[in-house]
Amino acid sequence: MLYLAFAAIPIFDNSATFAAEPKAPDSSVDRGYKALTETPFVPPLWSYSSYDKLWKVWEAKEKPANYQGEVQKRYGLHSAPFKNGELPMGLRKASFLIEGLTIDCMVCHAGSILGKSYIGLGNSSLDVHALFEDLNLAEGRKTKLPFTFSNARGTNEAGGMGVYLLGYREPDLKLRSSRKDLGLHDDLCEDVPAWWILKKKQTMYYTGGADARSVRSKMQFMMSPLVSRADFERHEKAFQDIDAFIKSVEAPKYPFPIDQKLADKGGLVFNENCAKCHGTYGEKWTYPNKIIPIEQIGTDRKRFDGITAKFGEAYNESWFSKEKGDGYLVTQTKGYQAPPLDGIWATAPYLHNGSVPTLYALLKSDVRPKLFTRSFETNEADYDRDKVGWKITEVKSIPMSISVFEQRKYYDTSKPGRSNRGHTFGDDLTEGERKAVLEYLKTL
Ligand code: HEC
Ligand code: HEC
Repeated sequence: MLYLAFAAIPIFDNSATFAAEPKAPDSSVDRGYKALTETPFVPPLWSYSSYDKLWKVWEAKEKPANYQGEVQKRYGLHSAPFKNGELPMGLRKASFLIEGLTIDCMVCHAGSILGKSYIGLGNSSLDVHALFEDLNLAEGRKTKLPFTFSNARGTNEAGGMGVYLLGYREPDLKLRSSRKDLGLHDDLCEDVPAWWILKKKQTMYYTGGADARSVRSKMQFMMSPLVSRADFERHEKAFQDIDAFIKSVEAPKYPFPIDQKLADKGGLVFNENCAKCHGTYGEKWTYPNKIIPIEQIGTDRKRFDGITAKFGEAYNESWFSKEKGDGYLVTQTKGYQAPPLDGIWATAPYLHNGSVPTLYALLKSDVRPKLFTRSFETNEADYDRDKVGWKITEVKSIPMSISVFEQRKYYDTSKPGRSNRGHTFGDDLTEGERKAVLEYLKTL
């Protein structure tokens, strides 16, 4: 009953998204939700007390009164819509000899829109580099992170993390003493995809290189060197449930009024111009699961090039690929997968690298901002209802002499991995058609 009870209890006012269909009390979906929100899959990365010392790293004179709020604001974390002690969502208590602190999937895969937290919405506020760096400093560790975890706030180098961590493993997941270089790149600048689109997809990740059914692929994030082969095997069942939960998550509905007549018109334009790649919507939806060649889509290719065949080969030799029968091998595809657009109003910024802050700019490439910053807050005041996405401030240059932490708040589309070019399919629409499509997209 846990999962239905959660949906009904009003004190969790930051309600998470749940499947619309009521499930049997102890369904795989329920168990997945419970595992995800209660189990530390990654052993402690820091001692628990390091959380309480973060303010010292900020060089504050004293611990701020609203400490959790300040931590959330600084790193782009959000309140948990489930019990998480004093910790923001994404951080978790974990015991392993010591009372420790670790992260979980939600640090990236739970976000906030209009001030509400949702499991499954990508966290577009997060500065994961600062979070790790500061927790290390609070712990008294002076060593630098082994590579960049985030180049631009709201994006991260999850792909690079996977490549880095697999380098420490033998095919049977035994730990290696030295790291194999599997072609580590830390300039992919990845926006986190929403979990609610996975249920429609046959292939997953931005290039569509993995089978969406693969459970073990979703366990890659547990590859901390402290996790043994036996741990992976022990948790596989829980990840089958987590997979079921992920595929049960539904997109939140656009909460403001919609001009239905205009949206209907937009639906016709969409079906003519966009549906062949993005599918159709409503009760009898279709989704073609198309991967568009990189030359044709024309968006930034760092992510496409950055996870190399060398990684693919190592992955395909490893335990991760040996699931069910012949297993689920990863493949090198020709480009990027056109994603389902459900809940697209809530998932700004757009494109795989988060280089376009609004849907309007996505549909009119010559107005896409080149260098911009935003609040990284997620309240109504931060949301651009006209252009659908985040309100931004464009600048001519990044102010001199600001810290690297502050610099990451500027999205510079001239930098590697961050180009905002490509996907020009909206350019030929008339302004009227574009506005109509925009209205239609709010209904998805
Ligand atoms: C550091 C941030 C981060 C963490 C932590 C993280 N992910 Fe992800 N996840 C990403 C990014 C970024 C992508 C897109 C990767 C790509 O395609 O290159 C992604 C992709 C995915 C996808 C594929 C979605 C799709 O539609 O293609 C799934 C499923 C997923 N993650 C599940 C998980 C699970 C389960 C965990 C926890 C065990 C987790 N992730 C932890 C950042 C993260
Ligand atoms: C030829 C196939 C194709 C057509 C036609 C097409 N798209 Fe796309 N679209 C893609 C691909 C591929 C991506 C992912 C590109 C990337 O992330 O680099 C994408 C991304 C998007 C995104 C961003 C998704 C996200 O989560 O960030 C939106 C929104 C979108 N398209 C809307 C549209 C609309 C509206 C139209 C019609 C005017 C359209 N697309 C036409 C292939 C297409």
